[in-house]
Amino acid sequence: MPRIPITGWWRCVIYFPVQRSGPGTSRLFAASAGRLNATAKARHRDQESKTKTLTFLRATLTKSRKQPIRPVESGLRATPRFPQVRASGEALPKNTAENPDAAGNGDMRMTDLFTFRGAKKIIFGRGAFEGIAGAVGELGGTKPFIVMDGTLARSGTAARTAELLDGNGLEHVLFDRVVGEPPLEIADEGAQLIRDANADVVIGIGGGSAMDAAKAMAALARGKDRAEQYLGLDRVPGPGLPTIMVPTTAGTGSEVTFTAVFIRNDLRKKEGMNSPFLYPDIALLDPLLTLSVPPAVTAATGIDAFCHAFESFTSRQASPMSELFSLEAIRLIAENLRTSVHNGSDADAREGMLLGSLYAGLGLANAGVTAVHSLSYPLGGRYGIPHGLANTVLLPVVMRFNLPAALEKYAAVAETMGEPVEDCSLREAAMYAVDAVEELIGDCGVDSTLETLGIARDDFDEIAEQAMKVSRPLENNPRALSPEDAIEIYNEAF
Ligand SMILES: NC(=O)c1ccc[n+]([C@@H]2O[C@H](COP(=O)([O-])OP(=O)(O)OC[C@H]3O[C@@H](n4cnc5c(N)ncnc54)[C@H](O)[C@@H]3O)[C@@H](O)[C@H]2O)c1
Ligand SMILES: [Fe+2]
Repeated sequence: MPRIPITGWWRCVIYFPVQRSGPGTSRLFAASAGRLNATAKARHRDQESKTKTLTFLRATLTKSRKQPIRPVESGLRATPRFPQVRASGEALPKNTAENPDAAGNGDMRMTDLFTFRGAKKIIFGRGAFEGIAGAVGELGGTKPFIVMDGTLARSGTAARTAELLDGNGLEHVLFDRVVGEPPLEIADEGAQLIRDANADVVIGIGGGSAMDAAKAMAALARGKDRAEQYLGLDRVPGPGLPTIMVPTTAGTGSEVTFTAVFIRNDLRKKEGMNSPFLYPDIALLDPLLTLSVPPAVTAATGIDAFCHAFESFTSRQASPMSELFSLEAIRLIAENLRTSVHNGSDADAREGMLLGSLYAGLGLANAGVTAVHSLSYPLGGRYGIPHGLANTVLLPVVMRFNLPAALEKYAAVAETMGEPVEDCSLREAAMYAVDAVEELIGDCGVDSTLETLGIARDDFDEIAEQAMKVSRPLENNPRALSPEDAIEIYNEAF
């Protein structure tokens, strides 16, 4: 059974011991989730909508797990939750581009067994950063290596970090040369400096760029391997130095994921290291650190978090436990992103966003992302478009493409985002999810298209080919996606 001591909404500590669960575990977790929801509910401004959302979710997902395929008004089929086999054991037809709803959610698996992982310890709350020295001590560290991007370091964050560590007698080394969407070489550079300095804990402070760089540096620091060797899945040979991740954007969720993403300038593409050895030891989240994120970055990183939540919720790898985090992330982001963008000093909204991006990261770490991320990778790798922005441009188009394959989940998302789904057909309710997301993006002031981002239509064949190689998210996608579909999606997003 997962140990989830929760000490309050404003300041909570959640432990996620690595665990492997069977069917009984979801029932056991329901009790913890109930406590989590009860605490959150008590604190939340809009209790009524939250209760409604959870009721709808429970009803929808419980119903969909129990029911066989049933027709809906539109003639499309409502999809059972895990429709890969009929009760007889006969395989359902797979969805295809021509027949996208043949098997509803495709061959999403009834996972009798699922795992749930994240950072070993999560500390969340306003002022949590003040405890950074204590976190270092908890990991047995005496000489931390701090990884930041230059802009953030110069904004006063490096000075404040130094104060907190010096005040506790901790000598530290600062590496502040991370840039947005970092190149792979930076991981080797940092790892060498860690070895030279004999540092014993790595702290990543910043957005995903700094945290990913820090995770990779820590993994590399114990040996002599090169970062290139760790790209791909399960290529990290063993544990690196202990890590503490401190997000300062509410976006990537990197503080709880097993991924570190880099640009390979030689190949003009993005590639990731994916390994359980990259899970941070401590994720330390302080919403106050995000107050200074400018509106455009707040919007793009916030929609990235939304993508993690939505994609993990609709992923073929989703489990009952990941769904809880993904859907709650959707609710938190839908409720708090607009205010965070337009009134960045609103600490309540920033807190909601940081919690939302944390939950979305847990969804991502455990259920993966889907086609939005596959299709956006080449936009970052070839054109240097910031990750969140690339996802934002593609999200509504991919949502429309996937809709027929995940109607019930879309309907749950629509309701969670406050859409009036009560008297709708399932398909209509599902379409409200796309509307809600388009409105959210518009309200956050993002009106970019692939054209305005400077991407030429002539490149679509090539970038589609690259996107198709980002295969794991595509395998998770609820609807099969061909290279022609990818090109069509780029055309739609142009
Ligand atoms: N590891 C994962 O699971 C994962 C998931 C998604 C994305 N990523 C990767 O993360 C990277 C993107 O991370 P990101 O979207 O957080 O952007 P980022 O880290 O590049 O930061 C964006 C900008 O925000 C600034 N910034 C950060 N915190 C700030 C603050 N508190 N106040 C003011 N400015 C601040 C930075 O200086 C930078 O200019 C990409 O490389 C992406 O591929 C990783
Ligand atoms: Fe992302």
